[in-house]
Amino acid sequence: MTTMSTNIFSPIKNDLLMLDVNLKKMVGARNPILYAAAEHLFTAGGKRIRPAIVLLIAISTTKTSNIEPEHRRLAEITEIIHTASLVHDDIIDECQIRRGINTVHNTFNTKVAILAGDFLFAQSSWYLANLNNLEVVKTISKVITDFAEGEVRQGITKFKTNISLNDYIEKSFYKTASLMAASCKSASILSHTNKNLQRDFYLYGKHLGLAFQIIDDILDIIGSKESLGKPAGSDLKNGNLTAPLIFALEESPELYYFINREFQNKEDINQAIIIIKQTNGIQKAKDLAQEHIQASLQALKNKNYCFANNTLKLISNYIINRLN
Ligand code: IPE
Ligand code: MG
Ligand code: MG
Repeated sequence: MTTMSTNIFSPIKNDLLMLDVNLKKMVGARNPILYAAAEHLFTAGGKRIRPAIVLLIAISTTKTSNIEPEHRRLAEITEIIHTASLVHDDIIDECQIRRGINTVHNTFNTKVAILAGDFLFAQSSWYLANLNNLEVVKTISKVITDFAEGEVRQGITKFKTNISLNDYIEKSFYKTASLMAASCKSASILSHTNKNLQRDFYLYGKHLGLAFQIIDDILDIIGSKESLGKPAGSDLKNGNLTAPLIFALEESPELYYFINREFQNKEDINQAIIIIKQTNGIQKAKDLAQEHIQASLQALKNKNYCFANNTLKLISNYIINRLN
């Protein structure tokens, strides 16, 4: 982790420790298998980037720079929803390890993992309703529909080399940016900000989420198994054609050959990664992520919140610095 990236977590270090303790309490289930499955991923950790953003926005938008109990609850709900989506996503992608440990379906079985994911979504809805804030309920509940939309879109474009950059961005909105947008907006709603600022926070989170996904997709190609907590090239293997590959295809048509035969030969993934790295695909994807980072900052520029500049820039830097 770079110095920059530790910075965003340091002002909320204790808050995140509290969040971890609470997450385990919140997933308490009557059934021990369900509990074990749900707890499994929380124990493995994860970067906690989504709750961190919620907590930082809380500090930045309340008059007293305080994190209110409702903000904490929102941060927890956000992480539970994210984790639920990962449990289901790993089944769909047949991903065997995540966050460096075996995935839920791999540890237990697919039926348990489907139920555990449903259980987490249901728990999050219950806690969401109990926030007693209709605007936040409306904003966050839409995200779960969006996940489904994103997975379906990803499913129907598998190995489809005619996928456009726009298709990819839209899919990424549904899969990743929707949750970040909704949780940034909700954090500001809970701070009783005005409607305009709430809308700007939504845009902020949306662009941040898109940048995050693009960086995540670059890492899938340039990262190592150790750094990723899962094998490199997983997206390629599953036929998820992401930004670096979409750009690389413009330069290296030989990539079509590997994609069309669905990377069936043992060395196909490695070959494809080598070819992508020889093109400007990675750099173009980085530029695209940077554009979304700029767009996220632009959404909150000129706002009368001196906090914003520093904190929001730190978050942006963290996202970009994941590549270092
Ligand atoms: C991974 O999210 C899936 C995406 C939506 C890009 P993270 O990379 O934040 O996963 P964890 O929570 O740190 O494991
Ligand atoms: Mg996936
Ligand atoms: Mg990924």
